Amino acid sequence: MAITITKPKGTQDIFGPQAALWQYVEGKIRNVAALFAIEEIRTPIFENVELFVRSVGEATDIVQKEMYTFTDAGGRTYALTPEGTAPTVRAYLENSLHNLPMPAKFYYVCHNFRAERQQKGRYRQFRQFGVEYFGSYSAAADAELISVAHLLLTQLDIENFVLRINSIGDKTCREAYNEALLTFLDGHKDNLCGLCQERMGKNPMRVLDCKNPACGAIVSGAPVPLDHLSAEAAAHFEELQRCLTLLGIPFVVDKTIVRGLDYYTRTVFEFTSADLGAQSAICGGGRYDNLIESHGGQPTGAVGFGMGIERLLIILEEQGKLPQISQEVTVFLGGMGEAGAKKARLLAHQLRQSGISAICDLTDRSIKAQMKYADKLGAKYSLVIGESELETGVLAVKCMENGQVVQVQIDKIMEHFA
Ligand code: HAM
Repeated sequence: MAITITKPKGTQDIFGPQAALWQYVEGKIRNVAALFAIEEIRTPIFENVELFVRSVGEATDIVQKEMYTFTDAGGRTYALTPEGTAPTVRAYLENSLHNLPMPAKFYYVCHNFRAERQQKGRYRQFRQFGVEYFGSYSAAADAELISVAHLLLTQLDIENFVLRINSIGDKTCREAYNEALLTFLDGHKDNLCGLCQERMGKNPMRVLDCKNPACGAIVSGAPVPLDHLSAEAAAHFEELQRCLTLLGIPFVVDKTIVRGLDYYTRTVFEFTSADLGAQSAICGGGRYDNLIESHGGQPTGAVGFGMGIERLLIILEEQGKLPQISQEVTVFLGGMGEAGAKKARLLAHQLRQSGISAICDLTDRSIKAQMKYADKLGAKYSLVIGESELETGVLAVKCMENGQVVQVQIDKIMEHFA
């Protein structure tokens, strides 16, 4: 078969056992969220493009190079969501969710779109499990939020991940830090890429996460935000470390983490795994105390993270931690002759109404082929309804595993499988 249209680059079709694994991971996500009383939020898959320009930042790779934008027939410009924080903030404000008990805790499993170069663990459409806490400035909130990601990773039995934390300071320290950084970058300006030269004017910190190797080599010697913290920001970072220690969550301080989005203040963190290769971040997040206010809300402390679900699955596979998941079919009902096939379809329908998974033939197979099909489906039991069964009203229910047969009255079949 020669197909003429294939899926877009950087996207995936998920089906069969892979789809079951997604359900498994999503089930764990929902269980973990419930343990923290985090409520689900679902926001649109496209948003006004301005939402991301103003939140993620004009000088970021996401806004400058990676967003999928389109203009609709009404002339409005939208973007397919490249991340989930900005939409959650918008929804929080638009729906007056500040009336919820504080902190308001939200989680989402969302689709994100970024036009990035495809490689292992990097896709153009990917999914994130994200959590956002609104309404607390406390380092205890940062630590609890980090513990959500940590608990999920441990419940999935993932090993060898590292939590890296850093502080990039807040409004009070950013000016002094930017000055030190600009002084350093000025000395190397001619060797920076064009985009970074522009970034120096817009947000010099974005030069630190440029993917261009020449820029990377230069910034490896640049001043880091952690060395320019105000007393309050430094105290907050120390408190975070105490809170994590209290919870027994190991971490390393990594001064190089600045994250690639503009909204962060103070705490930033990543969980990384060597099993992911170059794209080593399983999860990234941090505090963003100015974002809600910058969109017209009250000053509100906020902290959150996003975890790449495709990356979780890659690690689970590399570490041999994927569970064997198969479909559960309780009973296959074979039918012989028109009357037998009809009765099989009706009984299957009634069994399903009672919550019992039941399959019957839909392609007019021979009874031998029907039994092969039952075998392929992994049905636990099978039975055949033909003329004689209809006459006697008795069905021979066979256990597919050991071949044992039990005689059951047709009108007692529901009770038999209940
Ligand atoms: P981010 O670091 O851009 O942060 O993405 C979070 C996670 O999404 C990454 O650590 C990675 O696991 C996954 N990810 C990112 N890009 C891709 C890609 N192209 N393909 C596959 N997986 C990817 C954010 O998006 C922030 N909104 C996180 C956040 C929430 N901060 C505060 N609240």
